[in-house]
Formats: sequence, structure tokens, C-alpha cells
Amino acid sequence: MRLFPAFFQMDDAHVVIFGNGPEAERKTRLVAKTPARISLVAHALPRWAESFGEQISLIQPRQAGQALDTARFTIIALETEAEVQWAHELARAYGVPVNAVDRKDLCDFTIPSLLDRGDVVAAVATGGAAPVIAKDIRAKLESLLPERVGALAALAERWRPAVKAAIDDGTARRHFWETALRGPVAEAVYANQDARAEALMGETLERFAQGTDRAELGPVHIVGAGPGDPELLTLKAFRLIQQADVVFHDKLVSAEILDMIRRDAERVPVGKSKGEHLVPQDGIHELMIAASREGKRVVRLKGGDPFVFGRGGEEVDALREAGIEAHVVPGISSALGCAASAKLPLTHRDHAQSVTFVTGHAQKGGVPDLDWAGLAKPHQTVVVFMGVGTAGIIAGKLQEAGLSGETPVGVIENGTRANEKRAFGELANLPAIIEKRGIKGPALLIIGTVAKLPAEAQQQIIEEALA
Ligand SMILES: C[S@@+](CC[C@H](N)C(=O)[O-])C[C@H]1O[C@@H](n2cnc3c(N)ncnc32)[C@H](O)[C@@H]1O
Repeated sequence: MRLFPAFFQMDDAHVVIFGNGPEAERKTRLVAKTPARISLVAHALPRWAESFGEQISLIQPRQAGQALDTARFTIIALETEAEVQWAHELARAYGVPVNAVDRKDLCDFTIPSLLDRGDVVAAVATGGAAPVIAKDIRAKLESLLPERVGALAALAERWRPAVKAAIDDGTARRHFWETALRGPVAEAVYANQDARAEALMGETLERFAQGTDRAELGPVHIVGAGPGDPELLTLKAFRLIQQADVVFHDKLVSAEILDMIRRDAERVPVGKSKGEHLVPQDGIHELMIAASREGKRVVRLKGGDPFVFGRGGEEVDALREAGIEAHVVPGISSALGCAASAKLPLTHRDHAQSVTFVTGHAQKGGVPDLDWAGLAKPHQTVVVFMGVGTAGIIAGKLQEAGLSGETPVGVIENGTRANEKRAFGELANLPAIIEKRGIKGPALLIIGTVAKLPAEAQQQIIEEALA
């Protein structure tokens, strides 16, 4: 380890920054996130410095030595070699640690790639060898650290004395912190419910202090996994999947996303494909409730968005009836994922002023009783979920209701996945298009003039390739 990571304490600190150009500004902005007082060594205070108010003061170069006398560290962001050498020698004379921008040879310390979450700060450094790698690692950390983890740390700090006073035993205290900071208290903080987090903290502490530390029930997280591409997962979904002790997942959740589940967590497939239920809906409810009652962190992972033809509402109700709190994390619905992937705008100023999501599959089989006349009106887009098997009937009903057989349609199978398939054509030929392209599902039917746009673009690409 050629670099030794350490964090400067910045309460009551004083930092000297040499320069007033863009680099000095960048570094000032960074340091100004701390409570430190900043002395900017320059001939004049630049405009950008005004926004820092009293946190920043101008020091003339001839008085730089005096400023360095009390500095915790200094940053040199000067232009010319002579200026840099002068500032560096001065800092050395005062024994102040130096960071000189773009001058690794003059640096006592480097400024790492930072992830700032208030009281929680993560830093990644490569010693200047490959800053891009540091940035990439930082981006990965970003997805792991909840936005409000700093607020959680601040809450823990506030409660520390009370916890110490209430629980004598060190092991019990550790158990308390694990329960509090990983369970409902943390979830309340992450959901911006600070008052609730405080109340839960009080309740949890009381339970532990009385020795009745029964695990909290829930919450169960009903999480949207998006249409398949793992990069379309939300950061929240990613975090919850990684924290879960058990994940009950649908068949539509992609393998790459299932790979994100912790190795020691249980993965239980409960989902359905084309109406084939691996576990009936009531059974799914029972499994989630039982796992939650065992004190497990439960995630119910569903394809797309849980509230778009996902039966998420029924699951929320079942949990509520069992006295277990349910949290819902939205996902990118396949309608949005497929449309984006095929560059097919669901609404378009010239073509469609509304979009309607319908199911092509009735609860008892066949086609549901839809408002065909409404769906056949012009200037809209109709997205049919689970409609591959009933595409012929749907096309017939829409035409009977007055929609032209020449209306453009797009069919997108396995949208956003490596095996995505697309087909375009006209409403009258919908079943033929599906058959010709060998589309079996999961697929969406997108009906309306907007479906002509990607078809045209693809035709143009083919023509250009042939020209
Ligand atoms: C039970 S619904 C679930 C919909 C999901 N909640 C959503 O928001 O996308 C299943 C249907 O969604 C559609 N679907 C899901 N993922 C898809 C994908 N990657 N590509 C195309 N259609 C998909 C298909 O119509 C499939 O039959």
C-alpha cells in the first residue's frame, strides 16, 4: 500500500488555497463542503468566490506565510512554474502538507475521488496512476450507498449516548445497532421519514433495554426489476436486492439481475409465464408473510413495474392485512423499456396525444372485455401486454370498432434484453407478423401511428446499406 488513507478533521480547520483560476475554484468548492475556513491567496477575490460568503477570505501573496502558519493543509492551484515553486517552498517552510494540482512530484497528499454522503464519506485513490479507475469505482460505490446514509449516521451519533446509558452489555449494544441501522429505522431514514425513524429508534431501544428484543416485522419490499437490462434497475432496487435474506421472484426477472442477489440469500422462483403459475397468488402472499414473520428481510422482485399488470396491489393488501408494512419500489415498465429500445415514442406531438396500457389476456382466459371503441380512436397509442396469444382477436376487435387495418403496429419481444426481437407492420397483418418472426413472448404489441416511425427508420437503414 503506497498510499495511506486518512481523513482530516475539518471542524475549526483553516485551509489555504493558492490561485484564483478554474482549478482553484474546483478545489475551493470541494473544501467549502466542510466547515473549514478558507484563505484564498491571490491578488484579487474572483467573482466565483463571492458565493462562499464569510467562509472565504482573500490573502495577499505577501501575507501567505502568516496564513500558512495556522493551516491544516494547503492546495496550490497556480499557473506558472515560478509561482508554484514559490508557494511550495513557503508551505514547506511552515511544515504544511501540500497538494499541488497536476504536480504529483510536489504533493504530500492527493485528493481522492470522493463520495460525499454527509457524515459518511468514501474515498478512492489510485495514486494518480489511473484516475478513471478511481472514478469508476466511485460510481459503483454510489450505487451501493443510499443517498441518505449520512443522515442515518448522524441519527446514530445523536442516539449514541442514550443507547450507551440504556444498554450496559457490549454485545447487546452491538446487536441493537445492527437491528436499528439495518432494519426499519434505516428504511424510514432512506424514505425521508425522519420523525418516524426517531420514533422507531426509541421503540427499538426500549425493547432492547427491557430485554424483549423481538425482531421487527417487515417491511417487505415489493420491487420492480425493470424489463430485463440490469442497467435499468433503480439504485434502490439494487440496494434492497443485495440486502435481502430472501427474494421471491417472477419468471420474467432476468438472470443478470438474479445474479445480484447475495449468494447466501434464498432465491425462490414463484413467478408465472404465460398464465402458468409456479405458485398461486395466495401462496405467494403466504410465503412472503411467513418469511417476514421469521424476521427475514424479504424482497418480492417483479418484472417491469409492480403496479403495471403486476398484481403488486394485491400483494400490498395481503401484507397489510397480515399487519406487515409493504414498501413499493417502482421499476421501468416493459412498455417504457421496449419503446425506448425500439426508439418508438409512445406519445408524439404529430401522432399520439395519449397512451393506454391494456392487457390482452382476460383473468379467465381469452381476450378481456375492453372499451374497443375508445381504443380505436385516432391520435393515441395502445400498448397491449400479454397479447401475443390473442393478437388476432385484438386486431379484429379494433378493426370492427373502426380502426384502420393499415394502422402501424410494432411487436417487441424480450425488450432491452440481448435476445430482443422486433417486428413492424400493419394491424390487419398482426398475427401474420408475429408468426413470421416466430414471436412467442414475453412481448408487447404497440398499436398506433407512432409505430411507423421506427419502421421507417429501419427501412432507411436497410436502404442506405443497400445503396
Ligand atoms: C404480467 S405482465 C407484467 C408487466 C410488468 N409489470 C411491466 O411493468 O412490464 C407480463 C407481460 O409484460 C410484458 N413484458 C414484460 N417484460 C417484457 C419485455 N422485456 N419485453 C417485452 N414485453 C415484456 C409482456 O407482455 C408480458 O407478457
